[in-house]
Formats: sequence, C-alpha cells, structure tokens
Amino acid sequence: MTQTSFTEKQQQQLFRDGFVVIKNAVPGEITRKARELISAQLPRDERRLLVPPELATHADVISLFNDTCLARIMRNEMGPFPDVISSQIAVTPPFNILGGKPAPHVDGSWSGAIPDSADEIDTARGRPKDATRYFGENDDLRGTNDGQLWQDPDRTISLGSYTALVGVALNDQRQPGNGQLAVLKGMHEEVEAAFRMQRDSGGPIGPEGPGWPRIKVTKSGGTFLNGLPETVRTRARRAANDRAPVDGWPWPELTPILLDQGDAVIVLHSCPHTATPNHGPHPRMNIYFRIRRLREGNPHEGTRRVGHGVSDHPDRGYFGQFLEYPPSYNPWDTSVAKLCDHWSEWDGMQEIVAAARLP
Ligand SMILES: [Fe+2]
Repeated sequence: MTQTSFTEKQQQQLFRDGFVVIKNAVPGEITRKARELISAQLPRDERRLLVPPELATHADVISLFNDTCLARIMRNEMGPFPDVISSQIAVTPPFNILGGKPAPHVDGSWSGAIPDSADEIDTARGRPKDATRYFGENDDLRGTNDGQLWQDPDRTISLGSYTALVGVALNDQRQPGNGQLAVLKGMHEEVEAAFRMQRDSGGPIGPEGPGWPRIKVTKSGGTFLNGLPETVRTRARRAANDRAPVDGWPWPELTPILLDQGDAVIVLHSCPHTATPNHGPHPRMNIYFRIRRLREGNPHEGTRRVGHGVSDHPDRGYFGQFLEYPPSYNPWDTSVAKLCDHWSEWDGMQEIVAAARLP
C-alpha cells in the first residue's frame, strides 16, 4: 500500500538526523517517463549542466511530486502548501567531468563572483572592501538567478528559506561516489541555534550576521563563499571524528544519501547539504522540490511569480523582484520566526517534538 504519512521510525529519523529517505516513493512508470524526457534533452556537450528550463515545469516532471506519496506525506506531516509548479532538474555528468568539491551550505544565500584575494575582504562581516564592485550600488536590490544578497529592503535577513527539500532519484545512486546529495547529518538543530543567536544579538539573520561571515578567508590567503555559520562548521568537524568511514567516500563530515531509482529523500531546510562529484559512468539525475508550508495571511501564496517548488527565496519573486505586502503580514519577521523554530512548520511532528523537550 502506498504510504500517506511517515512511519514512527521515519518521524524519529527526521527528528534526529534532519532528513529521511522514503524508499520506492515514486512508481516505476512515473520515474521512467521523467527520465526519458530529460535524457532525450540532455545537451551533447556533457560539461553543460543545464537542461532546457521548460523541463523544470513539465507535467511529467512535476508529477514526481504532485502525483505520488510525496505530496500526501508532506501534506499530512508538514501541513498545507501552495501548488508546486516547478522543480530543479539536477544532472551531474559522469566520470567527474565537472570536477569541483563538495560545499555544504544552508540553502537561500547569494552565490555570485567574489574577490579572490584575502586582502580585499573585510573579515568581520565577510564583505568585499569594495562592495559596490561586487554587490552593485544597492545591494538590497542585487538578486537574480545567482540568489539574493538580502531578502528585505532593510537588509535584516540575507537568507531565503523554505520548509523542506524533497529530492527524487531518477537513477541508481546506491554506490557512494556517484554524485550523491550529501548532508551534514544531525546539524539542523545547530543551524537553528545559530539563527536564534543571530536574532538574539540583533541580527542580521544569515550570512553577514553575527557568527556568519559571507565570504571567508582561507589559511593560504584565498577566499570562498561561506555557506555555514561558524558554530555549525566546528560542530560538524567534531561529529565526523566519531563516525565510521564509508568506503569510496572521502568526506567524513558528509553523509551520502544513497538512493535507488524512484527513492526520495526529505531534508529540512536547516540541514546543510551539498552536491558531490560523480565518479560513476552514468549521469546522476535528481529532481528537487523546495516546499514551504502555507503561510496564512500572505497574499502571494500560490502566485506563479514566486515559483513554488523551485524557489529557495519565496518572500521575493523568483527573479528577485520585491513583492508588495499588506501591513498585516510581515514576510521577513515570519521567516525569521520559522528559521528559529523549524519544527513549528510540521503539524505531524508536534508529539515527538513535545516528548523530546520534556525535562
Ligand atoms: Fe543547495
């Protein structure tokens, strides 16, 4: 029988680890259709990642979520959400053609070009000393497909957010090293604690806020975009020491999500994640849906320009437009409240959360 909610064990897993795998979530005929559609349109030049953008909203792709147990599980365990109209098609070419290394991050921050020398960085907030050159005249306006520097014009929150990432595998990824999505297992509570600390210190929330420089300087004088609060980076490194190594997996801090075709994973927004190199002989093919619990009082819930399903910053338009809000609804305060209490968005998890918080 198809599952419509979590088993008790799955609830425990999500609560403890920040993610849960749903085996055989999608029936074979639905995965096959989506896979054939995407395979037929993969660019010949394998270094190009991008599949045609219209596929992200194609009915055969969206049905991986909408017409399966995944939509029902999310509705029952999380709660209502606006209709999903788009997705992220994430194909990693085989034979490590892309190269690169994993960069675990919390979704929702900006990812544009940065200065490559440490001398050019103001290290306290992790901003370029010559910010205008990289962020433009008004960095509250900066924001297109490379994400947004800020979610609000007052620059109090720099991170877009949602409730959970739902990923569906269209190929066999049971062998580590085949481009798996990987997570910092169990770090979701540490991420929430970092948001609370930022809020209690007066903000901003996200990169550039307390304890989270946007750009970091390496020991060798280089720079990188910093996807994680400092406390989370330290804690994840420590947790890795207590963990048994995984064969064929050189990143002890990261847990590979091992999925077979048709399996799915549900990951909290606050559980840091990353793509990993694909050393296997086949393209790694995942479809991601970003789901945010319905926010009553928000007049933009369900409007197309938010890009429900694909957007990691649903308080702005998908292409970075600022939306108009009535005085009765403050989208940024609401998002901060949810970031600081992620379980408040999960109707079905309330019992387990209450039990865990008993003195
Ligand atoms: Fe991401």
